[in-house]
Amino acid sequence: KKVIKAALLGLGTVGTGVYKVLKNQEEEMEQKIGASVAVKKILVRNLKKAAAKIPEPELLTNSWQEILEDESIEIVIEVMGGIHPAKEYITQALCAGKHVVTANKDLVASFGGELLDCAAEHHCDFLFEASVAGGIPIIRPLKQCLAGNHISEVVGIVNGTTNFILTKMTQEHMEFADALALATRLGYAEADPTADIQGYDAGRKVAIMASIAFNSRVTFEDVATEGITHISSKDIRYAKELGCVIKLLGVAKNTGDGIEVKVQPMLVPEGHPLASVNDSFNAVFVHGDAVDDAMFYGRGAGELPTASAIVGDVFDIVRNILFGCTGRISCTCYKALPIKKQEETESR
Ligand code: NDP
Ligand code: HSE
Repeated sequence: KKVIKAALLGLGTVGTGVYKVLKNQEEEMEQKIGASVAVKKILVRNLKKAAAKIPEPELLTNSWQEILEDESIEIVIEVMGGIHPAKEYITQALCAGKHVVTANKDLVASFGGELLDCAAEHHCDFLFEASVAGGIPIIRPLKQCLAGNHISEVVGIVNGTTNFILTKMTQEHMEFADALALATRLGYAEADPTADIQGYDAGRKVAIMASIAFNSRVTFEDVATEGITHISSKDIRYAKELGCVIKLLGVAKNTGDGIEVKVQPMLVPEGHPLASVNDSFNAVFVHGDAVDDAMFYGRGAGELPTASAIVGDVFDIVRNILFGCTGRISCTCYKALPIKKQEETESR
């Protein structure tokens, strides 16, 4: 029986979800992918806090070096968040020939290109399906299933926290702060929710989707962002009078002479499919010249939906390991397209 060993970096909302989903899949995964995946080590900062979360506290460590130097660990799953030390750990893992899965949009939106180059150089896989829209498959569809299209537009609701807040303000007349506190309790918000409510998190996801959809390299720094902190109950009421709801939309367009990328609260007519995307759900519209319109919908945040995307990536890597084709997905070929400057409406 073939067992592929993995290490988890982080055991917070998402890390705990990944641990649970892998345990849940234990019986089936060998039939599905031809091997089983065993978590050998879990990196955390606070060992005592983490020990209360899982039945195998002996897996916990606070030494990255122990994981890096363990040659039996073939897959590293990074769910710590933040740029440092995640970037250094991922780079070291790839250089050591370990495959990496991450949910870290902060990192992918600013350094995804560099990390893909590093993965390609070391014939490793670097996958990040969970970094955009939580449980919704969108990275792989854009990269693989829709590869036969010239994609001109990707538009959607890609932040669960702000969609949850706007839904609660609209449907239950909840105050902004109370809705944010609830989203945080439910595990949707980032460790620092500023990134959610100011539109930065959605901006990072737009940068990642634009890079893949347009086969270019777009970073977070290219995206003009406006959040929802200034949206009041009065705005919500006025929107209703106009037959609309307010949604925070991420927009990426390839206009032929350049790329437009922005995040902005917008009025969406009540009859539009995006108007009924509520709570922590996300939805992404893609327009391609061959497929026409396609829409992806599902849970955009939370423990198990995010873990679902991560475990899908892990299983893909296991198949690649078994068939000897790792590094196949990383691609260093892209076209540098001009970014059309958008007006910044809020400083960051
Ligand atoms: P949490 O804050 O809940 O968990 C972070 C975990 O990482 C904790 O176990 C923490 O340990 C550990 N950690 C952080 N820094 C270090 C470090 N330097 N060394 C060792 N361990 C560390 O975050 P989430 O689980 O919510 O998010 C994780 C990642 O997934 C982020 O990149 C986030 O953006 C992304 N993501 C989150 C989603 C969600 O719905 N929550 C959805 C999609 C992506 P300790 O507690 O000991 O400090
Ligand atoms: N904080 C993020 C959100 C998590 O609310 O969408 C999922 O990426």
